[in-house]
Amino acid sequence: MNKKLLTLLLTAGVAVIFFATGLQAGTDVPDTITMDYNNYKKRKKAPPKFKFAILSHKKHAEEYKISCGDCHHDKDNKPLDLKPGDAVQKCVECHTKLAKPKKGTKKEKKDIMILENAMHGNCVGCHKDINKKAGDKKGMKGPAPASCGKCHVKIKK
Ligand code: HEC
Ligand code: HEC
Ligand code: HEC
Ligand code: HEC
Repeated sequence: MNKKLLTLLLTAGVAVIFFATGLQAGTDVPDTITMDYNNYKKRKKAPPKFKFAILSHKKHAEEYKISCGDCHHDKDNKPLDLKPGDAVQKCVECHTKLAKPKKGTKKEKKDIMILENAMHGNCVGCHKDINKKAGDKKGMKGPAPASCGKCHVKIKK
């Protein structure tokens, strides 16, 4: 093997390594996500009646034209301007509280660091706004799903 070729091969090898780690640093942008943190299943009082919504991730971004920053934000709740390949944290990495405090307490409704509140705040919040704009006063009826059964499909027994 001549020296020139060897150098070329080595350079190519290094380039491949850089390329591969570059890809690993980011996170793939999924087309659909099954939203199921599974905490619900672990509940003693509320046995699993639902399987969870499928988030049409790509459709939300491309067809519905929702910007990444409408859902993804940083540690200060500042919207993130993401590009495909950027590293993205899961909601649960910050919204770490999985169990909900006692029903009806102030904390239950208000604490946004509770994952369920964060998910509902994001998903249901936007959907209700859309339905309100479409003419429904309470925002429950309209083009975007806002009632429990429309997002959480019941498990048939
Ligand atoms: C727009 C879609 C949407 C609607 C409408 C909605 N949810 Fe959810 N809900 C979600 C998503 C997404 C999650 C997070 C999924 C997960 O935790 O696995 C979630 C989480 C939950 C959880 C917690 C599950 C867990 O693992 O901790 C409960 C309980 C729940 N929802 C009940 C309800 C009830 C009751 C209603 C109606 C009042 C409702 N949801 C309406 C999307 C929705
Ligand atoms: C409608 C809300 C919404 C929009 C818009 C959105 N995302 Fe997401 N994205 C989510 C949710 C929810 C998850 C699941 C996070 C989790 O599992 O905790 C997610 C997951 C991801 C993941 C995978 C993270 C992982 O570790 O599994 C990537 C990457 C990502 N989004 C990038 C983007 C990019 C880039 C855009 C803009 C083009 C975008 N998202 C737009 C809500 C959204
Ligand atoms: C890096 C940490 C981090 C990640 C990741 C994160 N959040 Fe948050 N989120 C926060 C903080 C901090 C706040 C602000 C809490 C406060 O105001 O007390 C917040 C606030 C919120 C709010 C309330 C917004 C408002 O302005 O009232 C919603 C809804 C929410 N997050 C949903 C999500 C969803 C959905 C995801 C995943 C797609 C996510 N968060 C990922 C840290 C995070
Ligand atoms: C900022 C706005 C926004 C947010 C946040 C958002 N959505 Fe949506 N969603 C929409 C719009 C717009 C539509 C389409 C309504 C229509 O058909 O006109 C939609 C439709 C849907 C539908 C029915 C159609 C389909 O594509 O499957 C589901 C299910 C859904 N969203 C789940 C979710 C879940 C789960 C989350 C939270 C993880 C979420 N959405 C967050 C705007 C939003």
